[in-house]
Amino acid sequence: MSEPSLYHVSKEWKRTHRCGEVRKNDVNTDVTLAGWVKKVREFGELTFVDLWDRTGMVQLVFDSQDSELNSLAKSLKAEDVIACKGRIRNRPSDMINRDMKTGEVEIYIGSFVIFNRSKVPPFVVSDKGKANEDLRLKYRYLDLRRDSMQKNLRLRHDIAMTVRFFLSKHGFLEIETPMLVKRTPEGARDYLVPSRLQAGKFYALPQSPQLYKQMLMVSGVDRYFQLARCMRDEDLRADRQPEHTQIDIEMSFISEDDIIDLSEKLMKKIFSEVCGVELDIPFPRISYKTAMADFGTDKPDIGIGLEIHDCTDIFRATGFRAFSSIIAEGGVVRGISYEDGYGLSKSQIKKLEKTAREKGAKGLVWLKVDGGVNSPIEAFLSDDEIAGLKREFGLDEGQKSLILLVAGNFEISTAVLGAIRKSVVISKTQDKNNEYHFVWVNKFPLFFESGEGGMEPAHHIFSIPLEEDLELLDKNPLKVRGHLYDLVCNGVELGSGSIRVHNRKLQERLLSLIGIDRQNAGEKFGFLLEAFEYGAPPHGGIALGLDRLAMIMGGGDSIREYIAFPKTQNAVSLMDGAPSRVEEEVLRELHIRISKKETEK
Ligand code: AMO
Repeated sequence: MSEPSLYHVSKEWKRTHRCGEVRKNDVNTDVTLAGWVKKVREFGELTFVDLWDRTGMVQLVFDSQDSELNSLAKSLKAEDVIACKGRIRNRPSDMINRDMKTGEVEIYIGSFVIFNRSKVPPFVVSDKGKANEDLRLKYRYLDLRRDSMQKNLRLRHDIAMTVRFFLSKHGFLEIETPMLVKRTPEGARDYLVPSRLQAGKFYALPQSPQLYKQMLMVSGVDRYFQLARCMRDEDLRADRQPEHTQIDIEMSFISEDDIIDLSEKLMKKIFSEVCGVELDIPFPRISYKTAMADFGTDKPDIGIGLEIHDCTDIFRATGFRAFSSIIAEGGVVRGISYEDGYGLSKSQIKKLEKTAREKGAKGLVWLKVDGGVNSPIEAFLSDDEIAGLKREFGLDEGQKSLILLVAGNFEISTAVLGAIRKSVVISKTQDKNNEYHFVWVNKFPLFFESGEGGMEPAHHIFSIPLEEDLELLDKNPLKVRGHLYDLVCNGVELGSGSIRVHNRKLQERLLSLIGIDRQNAGEKFGFLLEAFEYGAPPHGGIALGLDRLAMIMGGGDSIREYIAFPKTQNAVSLMDGAPSRVEEEVLRELHIRISKKETEK
């Protein structure tokens, strides 16, 4: 017994077991354990200490017959870190704790050593305690000592190991690509790193290894993967961090079907190995157009039903002016039937109306249908129209539902209903039954209109058009669809990929469509374009978000829970204080001067 030891763990105190591993079968075995004190309880002449390590908790017993031992045990506080020696014994039958893996036994302690005492922690380090997230992030090392966070770290590790094993077995090589790369616009803002040796020049941190993995295909690598760290300076949300990890995959001499097939098998393997869930593959595939029309989003949660229906024909001859005038102008009436919404109060429906208006609708028409109908516009609706709606939504006579209708142009009415669908879903990531609804969304347009009247790539500019749309490339590029596919699970975009361009001419043509002329293209992507002229094979790939996958499998609401050291919504690391100011001297070496205005902030 001694006060804190400043030295390494001597042979004498080497662990023989982990705290969560001792069992009834081991009774009468002498063990050495190490871990963190969680609780100290005095019980008559005995002192009980709960000792924790990553594997679980075990109860230590200190007997008062050894008063020195017992009084030192009484001095222990939560989060002190100790090692102890003792004998495993059965707990008295009335003290058995069935909620603990080690609840049938306890360790009768003969001696122990304190490695380090702990200050009173800023929050209770247990899943029972509730601490605010900023505090948890500031003291992340304590937060990670909680069982749920250890479970999340383990989950992520298990996924990563399964991925490595599976892909390696399928002939993929894990290859690391550089972290200091050339800035090439990819959609988000770059994190830049100033060069000391090349005054005034900057590296960028990779937003993804996209171009490098394509180069590896030119190199004949054939099948590449990497658990790739990607850095993007973008606005953050629950499923977005400035640093994230992708399961990044690229293959040569393949079709879209091959990549989809491999990704499905990979998902099936991960879910089966890591959490014992057997996924049904193949996953359904829907086009971007169908996703937008039926669900109002390109990330549909197909498990919640609530498909958007077109009800325009039902109202062609309607007496309800708000609908007839819009239909006369070529607009549409679209709607959803929300059965669980039948019981919503007027104020709850008002909230939905607010969502609709925020998304650009003039209004939201609602009808509660059962045997009859209850709606603010019921006086304007004919029996035929009501029967038509029931038929359209497949409602039986007397079946209760809340029908929500939006009139307007196709895009707005669909987007509004998509937003309403989303707002009524309880949990996007995992429903109550542990169900995972995967869907592929493919045939995305190659380009979307950009704010300034130009075009920007829907995914990235390295994807090929669908063969059947090639001829539209000059006439109507916004109508061209690409070999682009996203994997969506329970409404979360889990992965995204495409078949790539491998031909210089076509790549230059696509670049010119987004305003990057030949000279500009040469400056930005010269190395890629040149590589295409040295026998670049047809290739394609996908990247699956590891953080999001862990969140979905773990049933969490935020990827921050599945990243050891995440940033806040403001991209700050509360634990170490990054980003931070740096000394003038360091900046000078990097040829950087901060404007006075910035330093005054
Ligand atoms: P994309 O940009 O769609 O594609 O990213 C692929 C997947 O990575 C995850 N992801 C993120 N996760 C957390 N925080 C973020 N900020 C974040 N950004 C993306 C998502 C997403 O589906 N090079 C292409 C892939 C390819 O074409 O092969 C790419 O990066 O799960």
